[in-house]
Amino acid sequence: MLGQNKLRYCGVISLICGFVSLFIMSEISKFLLKHKFSQGNETQRYHYANYTRKKMATNAYDHEKPTFVLILAYMRSGSSFTGDLIQHHPDVFYRFEPLYNLKRRYTKAKNISNDMIINDEEYTQRQVEVLKKWFTCNLTSYNAEVFMERGLKTRQYTLCVRSKKKTKIQRAKCLQQLIQACQQSKLRVIKTIRVSINSISEYFIETPNFKIIHLIRDPRAIGFSRRKLVLNSKRHYDRLCPLMTDDLKAGSKLRPQSRYRILRYETVAENPFTSMQDIYKFIGIKPTFESIGHLYLDTHSDTSVEKAFGTTRQNSTQTANQWRLGVTKDYVQEMNDNCADFYLLTDYYKADISHIKDITKPLRAKENGTFFRLSKI
Ligand SMILES: *[C@@H]1O[C@H](CO)[C@@H](O)[C@H](O)[C@H]1NC(C)=O
Ligand SMILES: *[C@@H]1O[C@H](CO)[C@@H](O)[C@H](O)[C@H]1NC(C)=O
Ligand SMILES: *[C@@H]1O[C@H](CO)[C@@H](O)[C@H](O)[C@H]1NC(C)=O
Ligand SMILES: *[C@@H]1O[C@H](CO)[C@@H](O)[C@H](O)[C@H]1NC(C)=O
Ligand SMILES: *[C@@H]1O[C@H](CO)[C@@H](O)[C@H](O)[C@H]1NC(C)=O
Ligand SMILES: *[C@@H]1O[C@H](CO)[C@@H](O)[C@H](O)[C@H]1NC(C)=O
Repeated sequence: MLGQNKLRYCGVISLICGFVSLFIMSEISKFLLKHKFSQGNETQRYHYANYTRKKMATNAYDHEKPTFVLILAYMRSGSSFTGDLIQHHPDVFYRFEPLYNLKRRYTKAKNISNDMIINDEEYTQRQVEVLKKWFTCNLTSYNAEVFMERGLKTRQYTLCVRSKKKTKIQRAKCLQQLIQACQQSKLRVIKTIRVSINSISEYFIETPNFKIIHLIRDPRAIGFSRRKLVLNSKRHYDRLCPLMTDDLKAGSKLRPQSRYRILRYETVAENPFTSMQDIYKFIGIKPTFESIGHLYLDTHSDTSVEKAFGTTRQNSTQTANQWRLGVTKDYVQEMNDNCADFYLLTDYYKADISHIKDITKPLRAKENGTFFRLSKI
């Protein structure tokens, strides 16, 4: 009984094996036929090669084509809002503050011991390295960096590597997905408040697909916002105007100017939809359903708290003017002393406290379009 069963079993197996090998052979011969056919005659081969070469060239071109956009801003200058306005476009890969760790290490190093671990030149070089790394998707780490959760696509990586019990292989997969999301994005956008225009001007000049949006805002509003954030924050705003002025001067020397734009936050806050259109045009994309829908929510929902580091999800015109009611006379005086050059350069008005508190009175010359043009350099 048992022997018969075994025999039957064997027979079935060899039958299956026979079919499988027949199938494999026919596949091989089909493949050979096809391959031979696709080799074709001389003319066909030439066309095929020409086609493949062109296709590869196009792919390579698409791959290198992405535009790099840097939103260069200052703490509390409205850069989160401006960044969000851009990052909700599906073609955008957005990295929020990639220089945070470097800056911390640098300032720490400066203060812990007197001999600096890195000098200013090296610091600048490392800043550029980090920006380059994110723009070119040359990403290597298995740890999610600070603020990656603030970008729609980088957040996926944070979630991926933080989900429990990831093996090394799974983490590598997370990284692969991050790199892919980055590579497939036509626009790689970085928002930072931690770099000067001088530090990146060389990289800007040698990189033809690199654009800068330089975001400025009324320094009295920035200082006020910073005061609310940090106690005894004088040192957080008395250097602000010289810093912005230096950046504007450096910006005016960038070539070509067609890749550099100055944006006043007040303009964006007052005309978010027009601004979005013009910003998108500058960086080479068109508004989509998602990006417009998000902006609508961002400007119309009614959370009344201006979040410490966040985007203000409320009527943005209103938010932009809140500081005017809260400032003191001494503060206004101090800012006026620090900012005379900056006001002159950027068409903000030097004003006394009563002018500032009367929110019907303008604090800046009306701009002609979304972007601001320096006329006084
Ligand atoms: C090559 O093949 C194409 C298409 O099959 C045919 O039109 C052409 O005449 C052939 N050329 C030669 C030189 O055989
Ligand atoms: C090969 O491709 C080039 C463009 O890359 C094109 O100008 C040329 O006409 C093509 N040659 C043939 C035979 O298709
Ligand atoms: C280092 O610390 C001193 C006070 O301890 C401070 O005044 C200075 O600004 C700090 N320097 C940096 C670069 O943070
Ligand atoms: C990627 O970054 C590493 C340093 O982290 C660098 O050595 C390498 O040249 C970079 N690769 C490319 C293609 O830029
Ligand atoms: C926003 O607030 C301003 C001033 O309070 C008001 O004039 C404007 O109509 C508001 N806009 C929207 C869209 O609610
Ligand atoms: C706006 O344009 C007009 C005419 O071109 C010019 O006179 C004026 O100075 C411009 N204003 C600003 C703020 O650029």
